[in-house]
Amino acid sequence: MNILAVESSCDETAVAIVADGRKVLTDCIASQVDLHRIYGGVVPEIASRKHIEAIYALADKALSQANITRKDIDAVAVTYAPGLIGAVLVGVNFSKAAALAMGKPLIPVHHIRGHIAANYLAFPELKPPFLCLVVSGGHTLIVDVQEYTKMQILGSTLDDAAGESFDKVARVLDMPYPGGAALDKAAQLGDETKYPLPRAKAGDNPYDMSFSGLKTAALNLIHHAQQVNEELDVNSLCASFSAAVSESLIPKTIAALKQTGYHKLAVAGGVAANSKIRKELMDAASALGIQVYLPPLSLCGDNAAMIGAQAYYEYLSGNLADMSLNAYATKSILGEII
Ligand code: KG4
Ligand code: ZN
Repeated sequence: MNILAVESSCDETAVAIVADGRKVLTDCIASQVDLHRIYGGVVPEIASRKHIEAIYALADKALSQANITRKDIDAVAVTYAPGLIGAVLVGVNFSKAAALAMGKPLIPVHHIRGHIAANYLAFPELKPPFLCLVVSGGHTLIVDVQEYTKMQILGSTLDDAAGESFDKVARVLDMPYPGGAALDKAAQLGDETKYPLPRAKAGDNPYDMSFSGLKTAALNLIHHAQQVNEELDVNSLCASFSAAVSESLIPKTIAALKQTGYHKLAVAGGVAANSKIRKELMDAASALGIQVYLPPLSLCGDNAAMIGAQAYYEYLSGNLADMSLNAYATKSILGEII
């Protein structure tokens, strides 16, 4: 089954064609990152307009790259939540029109379910149940993936997402947007023991997390150094910050693995590209005999192939939409509007 998948929830316009949820025929991305960089972050209005300009040509490019025609497409899938509402609407409306014009089913996909499904593309042998640590720009979740479309959230951040805190600290350090990758690069040259930063305790649920205290502590440290004209060892601050994020995520994930009894851990989302988190997770989980699935960096960030992968399983579960499909800025991975 060939699914034409569309993703436009933030600053990447993406169209992919995925066969049977596992085989990527083509994965096209038109990134707007350079455009938003001069503003230090995504400008929603610009993002929506750029999606409109790019999406039709990108879908045509996907078909020609896969060397197939519209007749070979069996369904259209789209990210319908969560994201910048104007941006998500572009993908949803394009996909509704495409599905209607081609007379094919329309499959709505939650963006974060898509991130989890990136693992199905990277690891053909991976099947639920497994535990997934989701770390993206807007979400930090520990998810019990019981079936392809049946999930339970075991823990989540109570305030900022891990990616959000990376971006905020990077921005104050004058690193280019999106700052996570640049901060990671600097961290690899620093001493992670140089700046003591807090590891948050978050409420009663042992799997919940918190990053706003850590972020504020790092920002205070930077501002204080600026005020007293003290030279900051930026690489070491980045290393100390990355270590603190990693040490906030990993013990919770390991505890959730022990509770569920799973021996499979997948990681998903843009922050899954972080070198410190990748290494520490691999070390901690492998020591317990747990198989860790870390997607290649190309599948960690936003792309449409992951939407096509999850769409196949949503289709098999009968989760289809009609022309009344709406876009949502916020919606939980379980489908509730939040
Ligand atoms: O999943 P994603 O592409 O978009 C959302 O769905 O939010 O995640 C983007 C986030 C940004 O916060 C970005 O700074 C972060 O992933 N990121 C990283 C790294 N690469 C991307 N954070 C830390 N280390 C990295 N190497
Ligand atoms: Zn994403």
